[in-house]
Amino acid sequence: MLYRPLGKSMIEASIIGLGTHAFGGSRDSKTANDRESLNAIHAALDSGVTLIDTAPSYGWGHCERIIGRAIKGRRDEAVIATKCGVWWQDARGSFNGIKDGKENYVSLRPDTIKIEVENSLKNLGTDYIDLLQCHKPAIPPEDTPIPETMGCLMNLKDQGKIRAIGVSNVSLDQFMTYDSVGELSSNQFRYSMLHRDREEDILAYAAKHDIATLTYWSLEAGLLAGKINLERVFEKNDFRNHAAQWHPWYKKENIERLLDVFVKWSDILNRHECTLSQLVIAWTAAQPGASHVLCGAKTAAQSEQNAAAGSIVLEPDEIDRIRDDLNALGDPI
Ligand SMILES: NC(=O)c1ccc[n+]([C@@H]2O[C@H](COP(=O)([O-])OP(=O)(O)OC[C@H]3O[C@@H](n4cnc5c(N)ncnc54)[C@H](OP(=O)(O)O)[C@@H]3O)[C@@H](O)[C@H]2O)c1
Repeated sequence: MLYRPLGKSMIEASIIGLGTHAFGGSRDSKTANDRESLNAIHAALDSGVTLIDTAPSYGWGHCERIIGRAIKGRRDEAVIATKCGVWWQDARGSFNGIKDGKENYVSLRPDTIKIEVENSLKNLGTDYIDLLQCHKPAIPPEDTPIPETMGCLMNLKDQGKIRAIGVSNVSLDQFMTYDSVGELSSNQFRYSMLHRDREEDILAYAAKHDIATLTYWSLEAGLLAGKINLERVFEKNDFRNHAAQWHPWYKKENIERLLDVFVKWSDILNRHECTLSQLVIAWTAAQPGASHVLCGAKTAAQSEQNAAAGSIVLEPDEIDRIRDDLNALGDPI
């Protein structure tokens, strides 16, 4: 497993991060049960993964509590990255939506952030959070100014409750503002072989200013994991049954085009003795500015497989060839 620092902080974290969204038990993308989630976390730690990404909104505290159970006695092995800013205890903040029956708000006010951090510490069974990330940018009408939010986060850092500060889902302007008013260590956003639009702005800025990036959906919710073919049927409530409506790569004709490209990489898979998902993860982690790749896993086997991608080092000509094939593939139809 390769390890890289979280930006200018002194924290080293595995380049493969365990994404834990499914452990929250959300109706549309959950793991089978908590035992399976615990096994997946233990398998990740046993395989050298230290970075574990979660959020209070993943199961409204449930996911953080599962992680807390999993790291009992193993706290030093984990770099826990959780989030703040999606608030559901009352109507403070700006209305965000309804998830699993809960009305929630985007709130980056200092008063709600402080409560969230106390709740996360309790849920995780720890007295410090390694990386606290603002889950989303503030939105009107309650558009908390970034310096106010950052001031609160710096204060929490000074108190030792958090060790580093990150953001997620921000525009380049917001990213630069956060970076200019405090000690920003990371940025989390969507990035994959099929969604490379952040290369020119966010990834370039992060590389230049020594800020870690935690990419999510790098497996495109399983589409790039090598087992979604034309016959694959998802479970009843799985959101991927309807994904083609908003994610054109999930349309049958595009899956067919993708499968044709995957076949071209069989010599690279053979050379590195790896699976397609591992190649996809290794390629993502090899891109300029991409320091850490979050991979969702639902089982111990998936955790182990994803972790093993953290020691695959692709040759420059392999990286370039894959990019050329992706460029030739172009946009979804
Ligand atoms: N900041 C944000 O707003 C935000 C948004 C989204 C995600 N995230 C973070 O990023 C993480 C990753 O995103 P994600 O979990 O939604 O998507 P993902 O990593 O792109 O895909 C995960 C899915 O791919 C399949 N998979 C994973 N490893 C596999 C393997 N080795 N072999 C075969 N299939 C495999 C599993 O689904 P099946 O087994 O069901 O096929 C799994 O649920 C999240 O867990 C979360 O921590 C953050």
